[in-house]
Amino acid sequence: MESIDRKTFIASAGAATLAATANTTARAASDVVFLSTWKWGVEANRRAAEVFSGGGSLLDAIEKGINVVEDDPNVTTVGYGGLPNAEGEVELDAGIMDGTAHRAGAVCNLHKIKNPISVARLVMERTRHTTMAGGGALRFAIAMGFEPMQLLTPRSLEAWLKWKNAPHHQTFWIDGEHHDTIGMVGASGGNVAAGCSTSGLAWKIPGRVADSPLVGCGYYADDAAGAASATGDGDVMAGYCTSKHIVQKMAEGMHPQEACRDLMRYMAKTARDLRTSMYCVIAMNPRGEIGALSMNAAQPLHYALWRDGTGTLHTAPHYLS
Ligand code: GLY
Repeated sequence: MESIDRKTFIASAGAATLAATANTTARAASDVVFLSTWKWGVEANRRAAEVFSGGGSLLDAIEKGINVVEDDPNVTTVGYGGLPNAEGEVELDAGIMDGTAHRAGAVCNLHKIKNPISVARLVMERTRHTTMAGGGALRFAIAMGFEPMQLLTPRSLEAWLKWKNAPHHQTFWIDGEHHDTIGMVGASGGNVAAGCSTSGLAWKIPGRVADSPLVGCGYYADDAAGAASATGDGDVMAGYCTSKHIVQKMAEGMHPQEACRDLMRYMAKTARDLRTSMYCVIAMNPRGEIGALSMNAAQPLHYALWRDGTGTLHTAPHYLS
């Protein structure tokens, strides 16, 4: 991922215009706080605020915000243009949760549909299920009106061919690379919601599911405490129920930042490769107070914040000194 210096980035003039415009609508973009992972979260937050100020719900905002990243062919770890599995198939995972109804929806191993977060939302809203996977998830998506399409871009196909044709290429029977997801949490009026979407590890073994679509791992939301999301090595992070851990700590009274620290403290007791692997989390309580933390300085977390009608980009502190 492109490196970004520690700095605050004031989002586009468009964001300021949006905030001004939103004041004339029923709800202003400043009535809501969004927190997203990585630099692409800036645009995701801006779109989420636009949807919210236009009258959409918190869930509408999170879904549409995440769609922006899923649609972007330049983001090679989410949605269209995401790097494929070892067989050259783009395999997507996503989950979304409403902290008010305490309902979640998720899809795993979804092929050919570029917006898995939207399919996940329909699993939540149109079925009595929580998670759908593989061919069943694809058939469900098609039944809901989604158009199957080729998700490989020329760039991701070339990258896969290069990996495939490299002698002794690394595989996930041993180890691997690339874990950046879009995770987003939002709060408004005491309500919270969370979502997460990813193409997972590049060159993963087909069928692999890690933390992103698992409730309580990639995302979790509860109006009584807050919302959280995780990004990084999901094969490891799933074993710590990261998002649920953080929300539980907020329920016990911790500030979101301290809840993120508590999770890292817990992980640091047993997780592997603490100084080299990517383990990152974001959190928000119903008042819109936030937390963001990476495990180490080698894999820093950049996060995007939307607050008071303005988007900013930051680098999170790291847990290990
Ligand atoms: N955290 C995303 C993944 O490991 O797939």
